[in-house]
Amino acid sequence: MNLTLPKWYDLHTHFRQGENLSAYVSEHLKMGCAGALAMPNTKPPVSRVSGENDDTSWSIESYRQEILDAGGDAFDQLIVPLYLTKDTTPEMIHEGAESGLLKACKYYPPHGTTNSEHGVPLKDLLGSDVFKAMDDCGVVLCIHGEAHGLKGPDYFDANRSAEKTFYEESMPRLLEHHSGLKIVCEHITTKAAARFVSEGGPSLGATVTPQHLLFTVSTMLQGFNPQLYCLPLIKFEEDREALRAAVTQHGQQRVFAGTDSAPHTLKATDCGCAAGCFTGGCAPQLYAMGFEAAGSDLVNSQPDIDAFRNFLCLNGPAFYGFPPSEETFDLVRTPSQSELLEAGEGPITPLPFGLKLTMDWSLK
Ligand code: DOR
Ligand code: ZN
Repeated sequence: MNLTLPKWYDLHTHFRQGENLSAYVSEHLKMGCAGALAMPNTKPPVSRVSGENDDTSWSIESYRQEILDAGGDAFDQLIVPLYLTKDTTPEMIHEGAESGLLKACKYYPPHGTTNSEHGVPLKDLLGSDVFKAMDDCGVVLCIHGEAHGLKGPDYFDANRSAEKTFYEESMPRLLEHHSGLKIVCEHITTKAAARFVSEGGPSLGATVTPQHLLFTVSTMLQGFNPQLYCLPLIKFEEDREALRAAVTQHGQQRVFAGTDSAPHTLKATDCGCAAGCFTGGCAPQLYAMGFEAAGSDLVNSQPDIDAFRNFLCLNGPAFYGFPPSEETFDLVRTPSQSELLEAGEGPITPLPFGLKLTMDWSLK
């Protein structure tokens, strides 16, 4: 059985930098990906719009060119958001938007995730001229929605998490201050975030990763599998149910694919575990499995297939304001395995390989 779909867009991914960049881009192209939003948490961060890279900051212009040169010129769309730091100015936003280079900015909770130490607390940005400039220019705010600096059970417990707190306390305040701002709630993982998004208007979107649709924290903890360690953490059954309901809802237009594919050459070490699941080469197959696990019938039900197409291929482009792909790719309902990705700076373990998971779908 063949599912022919428009080529899809990954509106949250990490292509990194250096020798492995071209391998990561190539894995995305192989899985029918027509374009991507490539995250700016490089070292140093992408915290300027234009100009040469230097030791403390990179520019969207230069990093984007690096990705294009590494094979990304085959994408129809390549968006690099600006990393919001203490040095971001309203002038940068206006000039960047006018030049066409700046489409989105990324909020990172300070020290909350990989390379997020340059982030500014959200409270410092509320009412700021930077957010006002973004609103004026139609620049999208991509939010990593976790409260920062929490410890112990405030960070993660059965009924609390850094994400839940952020969506219950910080996000309402953000909307009060900036009701017109276009916002994407990135990689949502909780029932609280799903509810916040569902109650929002047309300027509020969200991305969901394959791993948060497929697994719960139990899968990571039983036998401890570091391959599933990503941030925000995989949560509980009621959270997964809420995410599944959000993505599979017929006709929904605001939730879309953003894999947060985050390659790390070294995952677990004696000093800790790098956060991120690499889903290059296998994301559409995993998303299809997530939809089926949620009860969608991607073989016989046209409304379910339409909802899958909306999520994977159409909603993201519509939210960001570019046309969907006119090319297609095919998913086939036959089992497949993923393989270790051999790349110059060391092999990368794709999520299904790391979990010894056979996928129910293949790429044609
Ligand atoms: O799991 C994650 N990995 N979450 C993030 O927010 C960052 C990402 C990375 O860059 O590795
Ligand atoms: Zn990410």
